[in-house]
Amino acid sequence: MEFSIAVLSGDGIGPEVTTEGVKALEAVGQAFGHTFNLEYGDVGGISIDRHGTPLTPEVQDLAGSADAVLFGAVGGPKWDDPSASVRPEDGLLQLRAHLGVFANIRPVKVYPNLVESSVLKPEVLEGVDMVVVRELTGGLYYAEPKGRHETPQGWTGVDTMRYSEAEIERVLRVGFELARGRRKKLASIDKANVLECSRLWRMIATRLGDEYPDVELEHVLVDACAMQLVQRPSRFDVIVAENTFGDILTDEAAVLSASMGLLPSASLADVPVEGRKIPGFYEPIHGTAPDIAGQGIANPVASTLSVAMMLRYSLGLTEEAASVERAVDQALDAGHRTPDIAVEGTHRVSTTEMGDLIADAITN
Ligand code: NAD
Ligand code: IPM
Ligand code: MN
Repeated sequence: MEFSIAVLSGDGIGPEVTTEGVKALEAVGQAFGHTFNLEYGDVGGISIDRHGTPLTPEVQDLAGSADAVLFGAVGGPKWDDPSASVRPEDGLLQLRAHLGVFANIRPVKVYPNLVESSVLKPEVLEGVDMVVVRELTGGLYYAEPKGRHETPQGWTGVDTMRYSEAEIERVLRVGFELARGRRKKLASIDKANVLECSRLWRMIATRLGDEYPDVELEHVLVDACAMQLVQRPSRFDVIVAENTFGDILTDEAAVLSASMGLLPSASLADVPVEGRKIPGFYEPIHGTAPDIAGQGIANPVASTLSVAMMLRYSLGLTEEAASVERAVDQALDAGHRTPDIAVEGTHRVSTTEMGDLIADAITN
Protein backbone atom coordinates (compact mmCIF):
# COMPACT_ATOMS: atom_id res chain seq x y z
CA MET A 1 0.00 0.00 0.00
CA GLU A 2 0.99 3.63 -0.44
CA PHE A 3 0.80 6.37 2.20
CA SER A 4 1.73 10.04 2.52
CA ILE A 5 3.54 11.02 5.70
CA ALA A 6 4.43 14.58 6.71
CA VAL A 7 7.71 14.65 8.60
CA LEU A 8 8.21 17.73 10.77
CA SER A 9 11.30 17.18 12.84
CA GLY A 10 11.79 20.62 14.42
CA ASP A 11 14.67 21.64 16.64
CA GLY A 12 17.39 20.25 18.94
CA ILE A 13 17.25 16.46 19.10
CA GLY A 14 14.00 16.52 17.09
CA PRO A 15 15.78 15.88 13.75
CA GLU A 16 18.20 13.37 15.35
CA VAL A 17 15.47 11.10 16.69
CA THR A 18 13.04 11.62 13.81
CA THR A 19 15.69 10.40 11.35
CA GLU A 20 15.71 7.10 13.24
CA GLY A 21 11.91 6.94 13.36
CA VAL A 22 11.89 7.37 9.58
CA LYS A 23 14.52 4.64 9.31
CA ALA A 24 12.15 2.25 11.08
CA LEU A 25 9.29 3.32 8.79
CA GLU A 26 11.42 2.66 5.72
CA ALA A 27 12.43 -0.72 7.10
CA VAL A 28 8.73 -1.54 7.44
CA GLY A 29 8.21 -0.43 3.84
CA GLN A 30 10.96 -2.77 2.71
CA ALA A 31 9.86 -5.72 4.84
CA PHE A 32 6.14 -5.50 4.06
CA GLY A 33 6.15 -3.96 0.59
CA HIS A 34 4.59 -0.57 1.38
CA THR A 35 5.53 2.83 0.00
CA PHE A 36 5.72 5.76 2.38
CA ASN A 37 5.89 9.06 0.52
CA LEU A 38 7.67 11.38 2.94
CA GLU A 39 7.19 15.11 2.72
CA TYR A 40 9.37 17.25 4.94
CA GLY A 41 8.56 20.66 6.43
CA ASP A 42 10.09 23.17 8.83
CA VAL A 43 8.39 23.77 12.15
CA GLY A 44 9.28 25.57 15.39
CA GLY A 45 12.51 27.49 15.87
CA ILE A 46 13.98 26.52 12.52
CA SER A 47 10.85 27.84 10.83
CA ILE A 48 11.09 31.11 12.77
CA ASP A 49 14.70 31.47 11.58
CA ARG A 50 13.91 30.63 7.96
CA HIS A 51 10.39 31.99 7.48
CA GLY A 52 9.74 34.32 10.43
CA THR A 53 6.94 32.17 11.81
CA PRO A 54 6.89 28.83 13.71
CA LEU A 55 4.34 27.38 11.27
CA THR A 56 3.85 28.48 7.67
CA PRO A 57 0.49 27.97 5.94
CA GLU A 58 2.24 25.56 3.53
CA VAL A 59 3.43 23.29 6.33
CA GLN A 60 0.03 23.47 8.02
CA ASP A 61 -1.57 22.32 4.74
CA LEU A 62 1.05 19.61 4.33
CA ALA A 63 0.20 18.26 7.79
CA GLY A 64 -3.53 18.52 7.13
CA SER A 65 -3.43 16.60 3.88
CA ALA A 66 -1.08 13.76 4.87
CA ASP A 67 -2.29 10.35 6.09
CA ALA A 68 -0.30 11.01 9.26
CA VAL A 69 2.26 13.40 10.70
CA LEU A 70 5.54 12.38 12.33
CA PHE A 71 6.68 15.21 14.58
CA GLY A 72 9.99 15.62 16.42
CA ALA A 73 10.16 18.42 18.98
CA VAL A 74 10.38 22.21 18.98
CA GLY A 75 11.95 24.91 21.11
CA GLY A 76 15.26 25.75 22.68
CA PRO A 77 17.29 28.42 24.46
CA LYS A 78 17.77 30.41 21.25
CA TRP A 79 14.06 31.26 21.11
CA ASP A 80 13.34 31.30 24.86
CA ASP A 81 13.28 35.05 25.51
CA PRO A 82 9.95 35.56 27.36
CA SER A 83 9.46 38.92 25.64
CA ALA A 84 9.71 37.41 22.12
CA SER A 85 6.59 37.89 20.01
CA VAL A 86 6.70 34.36 18.56
CA ARG A 87 7.79 31.06 20.07
CA PRO A 88 8.59 27.69 18.47
CA GLU A 89 6.02 26.01 20.74
CA ASP A 90 3.25 28.12 19.14
CA GLY A 91 3.77 26.17 15.91
CA LEU A 92 3.10 22.89 17.69
CA LEU A 93 0.03 24.23 19.48
CA GLN A 94 -1.36 25.62 16.22
CA LEU A 95 -0.81 22.30 14.47
CA ARG A 96 -2.60 20.32 17.19
CA ALA A 97 -5.54 22.72 17.06
CA HIS A 98 -5.63 22.77 13.25
CA LEU A 99 -5.71 18.97 13.10
CA GLY A 100 -8.26 18.79 15.91
CA VAL A 101 -6.28 16.06 17.65
CA PHE A 102 -7.93 16.31 21.06
CA ALA A 103 -6.85 12.93 22.45
CA ASN A 104 -3.15 12.50 23.17
CA ILE A 105 -2.46 8.87 24.00
CA ARG A 106 0.74 8.30 25.99
CA PRO A 107 1.45 4.66 26.90
CA VAL A 108 3.77 4.16 29.85
CA LYS A 109 5.40 0.81 30.10
CA VAL A 110 8.25 -0.63 32.11
CA TYR A 111 10.66 -2.82 30.18
CA PRO A 112 11.74 -5.58 32.60
CA ASN A 113 15.36 -5.26 31.58
CA LEU A 114 15.37 -1.49 32.02
CA VAL A 115 14.25 -1.67 35.64
CA GLU A 116 17.84 -1.25 36.75
CA SER A 117 18.10 1.92 34.65
CA SER A 118 15.32 3.56 36.65
CA VAL A 119 15.92 5.62 39.78
CA LEU A 120 12.92 3.88 41.38
CA LYS A 121 12.98 0.62 43.32
CA PRO A 122 12.31 -2.57 41.30
CA GLU A 123 9.40 -3.57 43.56
CA VAL A 124 7.66 -0.24 42.79
CA LEU A 125 7.99 -0.83 39.06
CA GLU A 126 6.67 -4.36 39.02
CA GLY A 127 3.57 -4.73 36.83
CA VAL A 128 3.52 -1.12 35.59
CA ASP A 129 1.58 -0.85 32.34
CA MET A 130 -0.65 2.17 31.86
CA VAL A 131 -1.95 4.53 29.22
CA VAL A 132 -2.42 8.20 29.89
CA VAL A 133 -4.96 10.02 27.74
CA ARG A 134 -4.19 13.73 27.82
CA GLU A 135 -6.75 16.24 26.53
CA LEU A 136 -4.76 18.18 23.95
CA THR A 137 -6.70 21.02 22.36
CA GLY A 138 -8.37 22.81 25.25
CA GLY A 139 -7.93 24.17 28.75
CA LEU A 140 -5.23 26.59 29.84
CA TYR A 141 -3.29 26.18 26.61
CA TYR A 142 -5.95 27.68 24.37
CA ALA A 143 -8.84 29.37 26.19
CA GLU A 144 -9.33 33.12 26.02
CA PRO A 145 -8.75 35.56 27.62
CA LYS A 146 -5.01 35.00 27.54
CA GLY A 147 -2.21 37.53 27.61
CA ARG A 148 -0.06 39.97 29.51
CA HIS A 149 -0.89 43.58 30.10
CA GLU A 150 0.27 46.49 32.18
CA THR A 151 -2.06 47.90 34.80
CA PRO A 152 -1.55 50.84 37.19
CA GLN A 153 -0.56 48.21 39.79
CA GLY A 154 2.01 46.59 37.49
CA TRP A 155 1.93 43.76 34.95
CA THR A 156 -0.75 41.07 34.98
CA GLY A 157 -0.63 37.70 33.24
CA VAL A 158 -3.81 35.85 32.32
CA ASP A 159 -4.49 32.28 31.24
CA THR A 160 -7.96 30.82 31.31
CA MET A 161 -9.05 27.29 31.99
CA ARG A 162 -12.28 26.64 30.11
CA TYR A 163 -13.81 23.36 29.01
CA SER A 164 -17.11 22.64 27.33
CA GLU A 165 -19.17 19.55 28.07
CA ALA A 166 -18.47 18.24 24.55
CA GLU A 167 -14.70 18.66 24.90
CA ILE A 168 -14.68 16.78 28.18
CA GLU A 169 -17.00 14.02 27.08
CA ARG A 170 -15.12 13.12 23.89
CA VAL A 171 -11.75 12.73 25.60
CA LEU A 172 -13.23 10.76 28.50
CA ARG A 173 -14.86 8.48 25.96
CA VAL A 174 -11.43 7.72 24.49
CA GLY A 175 -10.33 6.75 28.00
CA PHE A 176 -13.35 4.48 28.59
CA GLU A 177 -12.91 2.80 25.21
CA LEU A 178 -9.19 2.17 25.80
CA ALA A 179 -9.92 0.83 29.30
CA ARG A 180 -12.47 -1.56 27.81
CA GLY A 181 -9.73 -3.16 25.71
CA ARG A 182 -7.36 -3.40 28.69
CA ARG A 183 -7.76 -4.06 32.44
CA LYS A 184 -11.04 -2.12 32.54
CA LYS A 185 -9.94 0.48 35.06
CA LEU A 186 -10.24 4.19 34.43
CA ALA A 187 -8.78 6.88 36.68
CA SER A 188 -10.31 10.23 35.86
CA ILE A 189 -7.99 12.97 37.09
CA ASP A 190 -9.26 16.31 38.32
CA LYS A 191 -8.97 18.99 40.96
CA ALA A 192 -12.68 19.00 41.75
CA ASN A 193 -12.06 20.22 45.29
CA VAL A 194 -11.01 23.60 43.84
CA LEU A 195 -11.68 24.05 40.11
CA GLU A 196 -15.04 24.52 38.38
CA CYS A 197 -13.75 22.88 35.18
CA SER A 198 -12.84 19.86 37.27
CA ARG A 199 -16.27 19.67 38.90
CA LEU A 200 -17.83 19.63 35.44
CA TRP A 201 -15.25 17.03 34.38
CA ARG A 202 -16.18 14.81 37.35
CA MET A 203 -19.93 15.11 36.65
CA ILE A 204 -19.43 14.11 33.03
CA ALA A 205 -17.10 11.24 33.94
CA THR A 206 -19.71 9.90 36.37
CA ARG A 207 -22.49 10.21 33.80
CA LEU A 208 -20.43 8.55 31.08
CA GLY A 209 -19.52 5.79 33.54
CA ASP A 210 -23.17 4.61 33.34
CA GLU A 211 -22.57 3.80 29.65
CA TYR A 212 -19.54 1.71 30.60
CA PRO A 213 -20.68 -0.47 33.53
CA ASP A 214 -17.88 -2.93 32.73
CA VAL A 215 -15.23 -0.26 33.39
CA GLU A 216 -14.34 0.54 36.99
CA LEU A 217 -14.23 4.33 37.24
CA GLU A 218 -12.47 6.22 39.99
CA HIS A 219 -11.92 9.93 40.47
CA VAL A 220 -8.42 10.86 41.61
CA LEU A 221 -7.32 14.36 42.57
CA VAL A 222 -4.35 15.41 40.47
CA ASP A 223 -2.05 16.07 43.42
CA ALA A 224 -2.78 12.65 44.90
CA CYS A 225 -2.29 11.09 41.45
CA ALA A 226 1.17 12.68 41.21
CA MET A 227 2.10 11.00 44.47
CA GLN A 228 0.57 7.61 43.64
CA LEU A 229 2.34 7.54 40.26
CA VAL A 230 5.66 7.03 42.03
CA GLN A 231 4.34 5.33 45.17
CA ARG A 232 2.18 2.57 43.64
CA PRO A 233 2.11 3.05 39.85
CA SER A 234 0.95 -0.49 39.04
CA ARG A 235 -2.53 0.40 40.36
CA PHE A 236 -3.18 2.50 37.25
CA ASP A 237 -4.54 1.13 33.98
CA VAL A 238 -5.96 4.05 31.97
CA ILE A 239 -5.65 7.63 33.21
CA VAL A 240 -7.55 10.53 31.62
CA ALA A 241 -6.57 14.08 32.43
CA GLU A 242 -7.08 17.59 31.09
CA ASN A 243 -4.32 19.22 29.07
CA THR A 244 -2.01 20.74 31.70
CA PHE A 245 -2.45 17.97 34.27
CA GLY A 246 -1.73 15.34 31.59
CA ASP A 247 1.38 17.17 30.42
CA ILE A 248 2.88 17.25 33.90
CA LEU A 249 1.84 13.75 34.95
CA THR A 250 3.37 12.13 31.86
CA ASP A 251 6.81 13.68 32.37
CA GLU A 252 6.59 12.25 35.87
CA ALA A 253 5.45 8.89 34.49
CA ALA A 254 8.48 8.82 32.17
CA VAL A 255 10.60 8.24 35.29
CA LEU A 256 8.85 4.87 35.65
CA SER A 257 10.11 3.80 32.22
CA ALA A 258 13.58 5.17 33.07
CA SER A 259 13.88 7.92 30.44
CA MET A 260 11.92 10.57 28.59
CA GLY A 261 13.51 9.08 25.50
CA LEU A 262 11.28 6.00 25.68
CA LEU A 263 7.76 7.43 25.67
CA PRO A 264 5.86 7.80 22.37
CA SER A 265 2.49 9.38 21.76
CA ALA A 266 -0.39 9.42 19.31
CA SER A 267 -2.72 12.39 19.01
CA LEU A 268 -6.06 11.61 17.43
CA ALA A 269 -9.22 13.42 16.44
CA ASP A 270 -11.42 10.40 17.17
CA VAL A 271 -11.73 7.29 19.29
CA PRO A 272 -8.96 4.89 18.23
CA VAL A 273 -9.95 1.51 16.87
CA GLU A 274 -7.22 -0.86 15.77
CA GLY A 275 -7.41 -1.50 12.07
CA ARG A 276 -9.52 1.61 11.39
CA LYS A 277 -7.61 4.43 9.74
CA ILE A 278 -7.85 7.86 11.32
CA PRO A 279 -5.48 10.73 10.60
CA GLY A 280 -3.13 11.37 13.48
CA PHE A 281 -0.19 13.28 14.81
CA TYR A 282 2.70 11.29 16.27
CA GLU A 283 5.43 12.62 18.53
CA PRO A 284 7.63 11.56 21.40
CA ILE A 285 6.52 13.13 24.68
CA HIS A 286 9.99 14.60 25.21
CA GLY A 287 11.29 17.95 24.02
CA THR A 288 14.36 19.15 22.17
CA ALA A 289 16.76 18.21 25.02
CA PRO A 290 19.13 21.19 24.56
CA ASP A 291 21.50 19.61 27.11
CA ILE A 292 22.36 16.74 24.74
CA ALA A 293 21.38 18.12 21.30
CA GLY A 294 23.99 17.76 18.55
CA GLN A 295 25.91 15.02 20.34
CA GLY A 296 24.28 12.06 18.57
CA ILE A 297 23.35 10.39 21.86
CA ALA A 298 19.59 11.00 22.12
CA ASN A 299 17.41 7.94 22.55
CA PRO A 300 15.41 7.34 19.34
CA VAL A 301 13.04 4.78 20.89
CA ALA A 302 10.27 7.30 21.69
CA SER A 303 10.21 8.49 18.07
CA THR A 304 10.39 4.92 16.76
CA LEU A 305 7.53 3.76 18.98
CA SER A 306 5.56 6.81 17.81
CA VAL A 307 5.99 5.39 14.29
CA ALA A 308 4.57 2.08 15.57
CA MET A 309 1.54 3.94 16.94
CA MET A 310 1.16 5.67 13.56
CA LEU A 311 1.16 2.34 11.75
CA ARG A 312 -1.47 1.00 14.14
CA TYR A 313 -3.88 3.93 14.44
CA SER A 314 -3.58 5.94 11.23
CA LEU A 315 -2.43 3.45 8.62
CA GLY A 316 -4.32 0.36 9.78
CA LEU A 317 -1.11 -1.70 9.72
CA THR A 318 -1.34 -3.72 12.93
CA GLU A 319 1.17 -6.41 12.08
CA GLU A 320 3.69 -3.82 10.90
CA ALA A 321 3.24 -1.86 14.14
CA ALA A 322 3.93 -4.99 16.16
CA SER A 323 7.08 -5.63 14.13
CA VAL A 324 8.46 -2.22 15.12
CA GLU A 325 7.64 -2.80 18.78
CA ARG A 326 9.25 -6.24 18.66
CA ALA A 327 12.36 -4.77 17.05
CA VAL A 328 12.68 -2.22 19.86
CA ASP A 329 12.30 -5.02 22.43
CA GLN A 330 14.92 -7.05 20.60
CA ALA A 331 17.48 -4.22 20.56
CA LEU A 332 16.93 -3.57 24.27
CA ASP A 333 16.93 -7.29 25.15
CA ALA A 334 20.28 -7.62 23.39
CA GLY A 335 21.67 -5.03 25.80
CA HIS A 336 22.03 -2.04 23.47
CA ARG A 337 21.54 1.25 25.29
CA THR A 338 21.79 4.94 24.51
CA PRO A 339 23.49 6.78 27.41
CA ASP A 340 20.22 7.88 29.08
CA ILE A 341 19.43 4.23 29.94
CA ALA A 342 22.91 2.68 29.93
CA VAL A 343 24.13 0.91 33.05
CA GLU A 344 27.23 -1.13 33.70
CA GLY A 345 27.41 -4.28 31.62
CA THR A 346 25.30 -2.93 28.76
CA HIS A 347 26.46 -1.94 25.29
CA ARG A 348 26.52 1.83 24.82
CA VAL A 349 25.32 2.97 21.40
CA SER A 350 24.69 6.25 19.62
CA THR A 351 21.35 7.47 18.30
CA THR A 352 22.20 6.27 14.79
CA GLU A 353 23.48 2.90 15.95
CA MET A 354 20.31 2.28 17.96
CA GLY A 355 18.21 3.25 14.91
CA ASP A 356 20.21 0.86 12.71
CA LEU A 357 19.83 -2.00 15.19
CA ILE A 358 16.06 -1.49 15.32
CA ALA A 359 15.75 -1.18 11.52
CA ASP A 360 17.81 -4.36 11.06
CA ALA A 361 15.57 -6.21 13.49
CA ILE A 362 12.54 -5.12 11.43
CA THR A 363 13.92 -6.29 8.11
CA ASN A 364 15.46 -9.54 9.37
P1 NAD B 1 13.12 17.79 27.38
O1 NAD B 1 12.11 16.72 27.28
O2 NAD B 1 13.64 18.34 26.13
O3 NAD B 1 14.35 17.24 28.26
C1 NAD B 1 14.20 16.81 29.61
C2 NAD B 1 15.36 15.88 29.98
O4 NAD B 1 15.16 14.63 29.34
C3 NAD B 1 16.72 16.38 29.54
O5 NAD B 1 17.68 16.04 30.50
C4 NAD B 1 16.97 15.61 28.24
O6 NAD B 1 18.31 15.41 27.94
C5 NAD B 1 16.25 14.30 28.51
N1 NAD B 1 15.74 13.73 27.26
C6 NAD B 1 14.67 14.14 26.56
N2 NAD B 1 14.52 13.41 25.45
C7 NAD B 1 15.53 12.52 25.43
C8 NAD B 1 15.92 11.49 24.52
N3 NAD B 1 15.23 11.23 23.41
N4 NAD B 1 17.03 10.78 24.82
C9 NAD B 1 17.73 11.01 25.94
N5 NAD B 1 17.41 11.96 26.83
C10 NAD B 1 16.32 12.71 26.58
O7 NAD B 1 12.48 18.94 28.28
P2 NAD B 1 13.04 20.43 28.60
O8 NAD B 1 14.51 20.41 28.74
O9 NAD B 1 12.18 20.90 29.69
O10 NAD B 1 12.64 21.28 27.31
C11 NAD B 1 13.55 21.66 26.29
C12 NAD B 1 12.83 22.37 25.18
O11 NAD B 1 11.95 21.45 24.52
C13 NAD B 1 11.94 23.54 25.63
O12 NAD B 1 12.09 24.55 24.68
C14 NAD B 1 10.54 22.98 25.57
O13 NAD B 1 9.56 23.95 25.30
C15 NAD B 1 10.65 22.01 24.43
N6 NAD B 1 9.69 20.91 24.47
C16 NAD B 1 9.11 20.58 23.30
C17 NAD B 1 8.25 19.51 23.24
C18 NAD B 1 7.62 19.19 21.94
O14 NAD B 1 7.98 19.73 20.92
N7 NAD B 1 6.66 18.28 21.90
C19 NAD B 1 8.01 18.75 24.37
C20 NAD B 1 8.63 19.11 25.58
C21 NAD B 1 9.48 20.20 25.61
C1 IPM C 1 4.61 18.29 25.24
C2 IPM C 1 5.28 19.62 25.42
C3 IPM C 1 4.41 20.72 24.83
C4 IPM C 1 3.13 20.77 25.65
C5 IPM C 1 5.02 22.14 24.75
C6 IPM C 1 6.35 22.14 24.08
C7 IPM C 1 4.09 23.08 24.06
O1 IPM C 1 5.60 19.85 26.76
O2 IPM C 1 4.33 17.93 24.09
O3 IPM C 1 4.40 17.57 26.21
O4 IPM C 1 3.11 21.36 26.75
O5 IPM C 1 2.15 20.21 25.18
MN1 MN D 1 5.31 18.09 28.01
